[in-house]
Amino acid sequence: MFQEDLIQEIARLKAERNAVILAHSYQRPEIQDIADFVGDSLALARKAQEAECEVIVFCGVHFMAETACILNPSRTVLLPDLNAACSLEQSCPAEELAAFLEANQEKNYYVVAYVNCSIGVKALADVIVTSGNSQRIIETAPADRPILFVPDRNLGAWTARKVGREMTLWNGACHVHEQFTRDKVLEVKAQYPDAPIVCHPECQEPIRLLADHICSTEKMIPYCRESESQRFIIVTESGILHRLRKLVPGKEFIGVGTEKCSCAECEYMKLNTLEKIRNCLRDMSPEVRVPEELRLRAEKPLLRMLELSC
Ligand code: 13P
Ligand code: SF4
Repeated sequence: MFQEDLIQEIARLKAERNAVILAHSYQRPEIQDIADFVGDSLALARKAQEAECEVIVFCGVHFMAETACILNPSRTVLLPDLNAACSLEQSCPAEELAAFLEANQEKNYYVVAYVNCSIGVKALADVIVTSGNSQRIIETAPADRPILFVPDRNLGAWTARKVGREMTLWNGACHVHEQFTRDKVLEVKAQYPDAPIVCHPECQEPIRLLADHICSTEKMIPYCRESESQRFIIVTESGILHRLRKLVPGKEFIGVGTEKCSCAECEYMKLNTLEKIRNCLRDMSPEVRVPEELRLRAEKPLLRMLELSC
């Protein structure tokens, strides 16, 4: 089927099912183009919470669809490919976190969980953060309790430094952001010496030290729009380049590759395709569902985050 026909079929099924399509900035360009809303994890969580349509098609990865279920339980949440996982989520199984907290009860940790984690981990957390609000949320953490930050050691270390507060960091990381090397970034910088380096906080410290600006995918847009520079070196998953080129026309965005590939791609994010979106709307499957008891526990720290990041 031609792409145009597929897009028309998606539009027809979307209307029939009373559905909204939400997409993360790392989705394929053609998915971003047909989505009703494209955003970072924080903006998508808000959109999912407010969604009035009966069906939410979540073009992102599993934990994002799960977050939509937690925040808006009366909607049907579809994930075009159920295998769209996340290495950060995998780096912190809920049972391991529960065992760690059990073994360290005397510490009375205040558990801050990056939204890139499972519902089981969210249910054990005091508050959730995204890369767009981690500083703001941690500034409100109780001063008399030590903080345990899970699962991303890179976002955790960056936020700890920004806020000036020590935190115990879970040893997790995103395999896409950890593939960037100083050499690769410097290679691109040598080609475009006038371009500021903009990186995501999931990158490792040697990369963060090279950056002119570090922020979530969403915040890259106003930064690049408002900057006087005409071109930028973007160190994160390549999907954001499409969004930047669309929303900040006239400026140039240069991606950084890894040792293995000329552009950094999250294979989980890229599992979603137009065809799978059509199929999930047609079949009303795969659907993401969460047990109610766990949902109620995971909802609390998520709502705390949304209140604190208003
Ligand atoms: P943000 O879009 O919230 O910056 O997150 C990046 C990411 O890796 C999502 O999986
Ligand atoms: Fe997870 Fe990294 Fe992919 Fe984001 S880019 S979904 S953090 S594996």
